[in-house]
Amino acid sequence: MSADVTIFANASQVVTCAGPGRARRGAEMNDAAIRQAVAVAVTGEIVSAVEPLGDLRVTYPGAREIDCQRGVLTPGLVDSHTHAIFGRPRYEEQELRAAGHDYMEIARRGGGIHSSVRDLRARDESELEALGERRLRRLASYGTTTVEVKSGYGLSVADEIKTLRVIQRLATKLPMRVVPTFLGAHEVPLDHRESAATRRAYVELVINEMLPIIGREKLADFADVFCETGVYTVEESRAVLSAARASGLRLKLHADELTSCGGAELAAEIGATSADHLAAVSKAGITALATAGTIATLLPGTMLFLGKSTQAPARSLIEAGVPVALATDFNPGTSPTPNLPLVMTLGVSQLRMSAAEAMIATTVNGAAALALGDRVGQITPGFSADLALFDAEDYREIPYWYGDRRCRATWARGKACHLSDLGLS
Ligand code: NIG
Ligand code: FE
Repeated sequence: MSADVTIFANASQVVTCAGPGRARRGAEMNDAAIRQAVAVAVTGEIVSAVEPLGDLRVTYPGAREIDCQRGVLTPGLVDSHTHAIFGRPRYEEQELRAAGHDYMEIARRGGGIHSSVRDLRARDESELEALGERRLRRLASYGTTTVEVKSGYGLSVADEIKTLRVIQRLATKLPMRVVPTFLGAHEVPLDHRESAATRRAYVELVINEMLPIIGREKLADFADVFCETGVYTVEESRAVLSAARASGLRLKLHADELTSCGGAELAAEIGATSADHLAAVSKAGITALATAGTIATLLPGTMLFLGKSTQAPARSLIEAGVPVALATDFNPGTSPTPNLPLVMTLGVSQLRMSAAEAMIATTVNGAAALALGDRVGQITPGFSADLALFDAEDYREIPYWYGDRRCRATWARGKACHLSDLGLS
């Protein structure tokens, strides 16, 4: 008997994404290794075989079977960039932007990130945990089984640590895999904006007080900075990221989101795992990312929601050999969507990626952007049994039915994460 084996049978396609356990670039991104007439065996938390159903039944007699009902089975999706721990939503800013007030202008007037900071500081850990749990479960309901979550609405030692502890508790409690990122340099807090000296004092607080605690207590895997005109300069970002590396963290950077200010170049120079956003990346920035092998994490939902008419140059990045990942940027200000397949839609329709490239960008390359590429993002023997089942016959329907929730179920590490009401158990 094969008591701890589950066979996922009768999928119309299995999108395996099988291949090297590292970020894919160029033409490699166009091959999602789709297989038909195969089933997937999961032993405990790990994929053990991808073979015809008849063969698996012989190898694993008595295994439990899950009928995929001709749906498409993919690796659990990886959302490698979110700001999922926040309090109230900021819907009023959407109307303000529609009336002509720009994102940065709202921030300068004390709204934007500052408004989420005031709100988060007033809530305790249990309240934030409950809100975070509901929101992460929504992400899972669209197919996501691995999610990166940033702090960054605390901006004080106590409130940043509070946020990271909430993320840590959710990581233990939820079946999804949760990767914590410290983003203490998300904004310059309002009470540090009076002078160059108070501004410097906040950067020093991040470097000398927050990072040592976070490193010591292992509260985050990554550190990130919002490097942007009017927020953190390249020099300040470099200082924070260098200190983060010294505290044992890997690096990410919000780079060239709204203006071209050398963010991509810095991410490449400092050896960041990913440079994120890049809607305003320069040609030199693209070359630097390609040379360094830095992953470009593109967040087209953000530009759409902000009402911008530009998008990151995905084709130029892919042609230059930069590995591209796609993520939601789920946050209350610029991208309140939990729907990663919708971001795949934008990847195809706005960034001119193929459906296979969008698939790799939300599996293998998303996992690589979280330094998990050797065990997450593929349906391959030895990889984590993270699966998503979609109501579709062809994987190209996933970006096609835009905004629709086609995800029927997800499993993370072999355990049910989200099951819709379509009769699966
Ligand atoms: O990725 N750019 C900085 N951070 C978020 C927005 C955060 C917010 O507005 O609350 C982003 O777009
Ligand atoms: Fe972001």
